[in-house]
Amino acid sequence: MSEFAVEALNVVRTFDGGALRALDGVSLHVPRGEVFGLLGPNGSGKTTMVRILSTILAPTSGTAMVNGFDVVRQPQRVRQSIGLAGQYATVDENLTGLENLRMIGRLNHLRTSVAVSRARQLLEQFGLSEAADRSTKTYSGGMRRRLDLAAALVADPPLLFLDEPTTGLDPQSRQDLWGIIEGLVEDGVTVLLTTQYLEEADRLARQLVVLDHGTIIAQGTSRELKTRLGATVLEVHFFSTEDARRALALIGDASTKPANVEGTVIELTVERGPSAAADVLRRVDAAGLALAGLSLREPSLDDVFLSLTGHRTEKDEEPDAAPRGREARRARA
Ligand SMILES: Nc1ncnc2c1ncn2[C@@H]1O[C@H](COP(=O)(O)OP(=O)(O)O)[C@@H](O)[C@H]1O
Ligand SMILES: [Mg+2]
Repeated sequence: MSEFAVEALNVVRTFDGGALRALDGVSLHVPRGEVFGLLGPNGSGKTTMVRILSTILAPTSGTAMVNGFDVVRQPQRVRQSIGLAGQYATVDENLTGLENLRMIGRLNHLRTSVAVSRARQLLEQFGLSEAADRSTKTYSGGMRRRLDLAAALVADPPLLFLDEPTTGLDPQSRQDLWGIIEGLVEDGVTVLLTTQYLEEADRLARQLVVLDHGTIIAQGTSRELKTRLGATVLEVHFFSTEDARRALALIGDASTKPANVEGTVIELTVERGPSAAADVLRRVDAAGLALAGLSLREPSLDDVFLSLTGHRTEKDEEPDAAPRGREARRARA
């Protein structure tokens, strides 16, 4: 068997009779036993890739092997060897947590008694034991995502696809889910995770690929990507756009990348945050300009994008709002 859990070569997927290239020649090599991050903004092709790898959707061209099985020629074998937790919760709202997991166990040909004990074990593992007999209608967003993840694990697959597992979750639920994912990897599971958050890929994934409009624009370890970016973003806030414009000439060269100005804020990419901040403060002060504020932050996906493509991620789009119903139905079908 290949050393890779997933080997995809030049995968292309078009829609609308070829007018839209959702994936335009994407190759992935996902090593076993770790989290691999597929990072990209809305519409970059993440879900399309996951759907191809989980045999829901056929590639237009290219090949993909999952756990050594060809997604086109051996879809049944692929499906038996993976777990999938989609972008939208797929649990049946009219059932309790226990009933949902038991049903999935039965669908996976487990005997009823085995299905029930597996369900209880997973509910316990994901902190849902107390809610086991409650209708999932009453679950919070975080509880649903955990149940979804549990559902993907009923058959104990060695490879798990998680499509934006934490999008829309509150910070605490996100942390909880990260802990769970780390635990799964410790138990030997391979995880292919899609996310819009660099922070998430950074925390969980050893290697990552950044997608934009269906092509890979960067890949490597999170550390490599960050090093390419400079470690930190220094935001310098002014009281007027006029001040910001004037200050740019004074402090722009403190940035390792072209400084970015948005209204009253200048963003500088810096290597040593605190000393760069002190330096900027001195220069601005010497010129008699008033600062409205200074802040340091880790690079975001948006910064990666700006640095790699010269444009920001397309934030004006509603985060996948439109396809919700359609997508949810498809996921259940
Ligand atoms: N079934 C479909 N029919 C037509 N276009 C689609 C379909 N699925 C996805 N797309 C389009 O393909 C592109 C990539 O979508 P998707 O893979 O869902 O991106 P992501 O998951 O990164 O947000 C988008 O432009 C999306 O509108
Ligand atoms: Mg998606």
